[in-house]
Amino acid sequence: MQTDQMVRTFVDFYLARGHREITGTTLIPPPGDPVLFTTSGMHPLTANIEGEPHPLGRRLVDVQRCLRTTDLDEVGDDTHLTTFEMLGTWSFGDYDGPQSLRWGHELLVGRLGLDPGRLHATVHPTDLLAPPVWDELGVPVERTDENWWSNGPTGPCGPDSEIFYWTGDGPPTGTPTTDTRWVEIWNHVTMLYRRGDDGSLTPLDQPSVDTGLGLERLVTILQGGSSVYDTDGFAPWRRHVPPLWPLRETDTRVVCDHLRSAIVVIGDGVTPSNTGRGYVLRRLLRRSLTLLWRDDPARTLGDLPPELLTHTITHFGLPISPSSVREVLLAEEKRFRTLLTRGRQIVSRRLHRTGPLTEADFRDLHDTHGLPRDLVETLLNH
Ligand code: ALA
Repeated sequence: MQTDQMVRTFVDFYLARGHREITGTTLIPPPGDPVLFTTSGMHPLTANIEGEPHPLGRRLVDVQRCLRTTDLDEVGDDTHLTTFEMLGTWSFGDYDGPQSLRWGHELLVGRLGLDPGRLHATVHPTDLLAPPVWDELGVPVERTDENWWSNGPTGPCGPDSEIFYWTGDGPPTGTPTTDTRWVEIWNHVTMLYRRGDDGSLTPLDQPSVDTGLGLERLVTILQGGSSVYDTDGFAPWRRHVPPLWPLRETDTRVVCDHLRSAIVVIGDGVTPSNTGRGYVLRRLLRRSLTLLWRDDPARTLGDLPPELLTHTITHFGLPISPSSVREVLLAEEKRFRTLLTRGRQIVSRRLHRTGPLTEADFRDLHDTHGLPRDLVETLLNH
């Protein structure tokens, strides 16, 4: 099953159960929101979980693109991506958590054909409603204090039930907390409280259900791959990048992830800068270029095959042309190259004169010469 077909199956399943689809999602949170990027499907719906009516009603479904910088160091492993898509469903004070779990199981096993013997659930010890449902469905359950979801230090939160799939070769062993081959695919949260600034929990007037399913992870399983980079969404990247820029496997994955993310971020209207969203974009591009230039400084993003731009723009429905994206990429590459050339001279003079750099040197290189610490560290390591 291809990614697009999988998305359609998911959305149609919930449309048939009274949900309405939210379309036109973006990585950029609404104005006034303190976070840089949308990090989960519920994030733009926080006010609705707290009780504000949503214009589309009480049952919603969508595909939300998300960006998480907290996972940046894990990018390159089998399951983490900087930009990923979350399939989400919501019940605002409508059906309850057990109903959500039953539908989730029906979709995974009945529609998508996942092996029920490879499922495992985890629940919060205070959740007394989920375990009987999992027992009834024949899914083993583990109780852990980890199963509590909140989008940040304050705001709506509650116990969750996470669904894991066994990705090991032999029959399942252990539990999700004891064996990493259990991969989390879907989280069903029952939002019961609002956490205030002082840390206190106030019950919500109407409990809501918020679920998020990692699209790329599920597609990996359905397509029989061993990593998210084996899915059809990455197929053009895997075809074009290694012959163009031969790198170690992990570095290839990081370059594909970061450049694909950069295209999405640019497509959602961000340009590189030294602060906020623009700085995240700048870091993604500079990390990619640092990996590319390690073996060959002549490599350029100008060689990025057009198919990779159009494929990403089309898949995410980005309101931008490939040539505009390319322009941003090349301008940033040029800027980074100039900065590296100038920085290399300044840093080497400094090292020659005073030996290993001190904290004061880092500060001065930043304040006087505009060389950020991560750039200086890049120069020192190469
Ligand atoms: N909001 C929950 C999550 O992102 C569903 O895992």
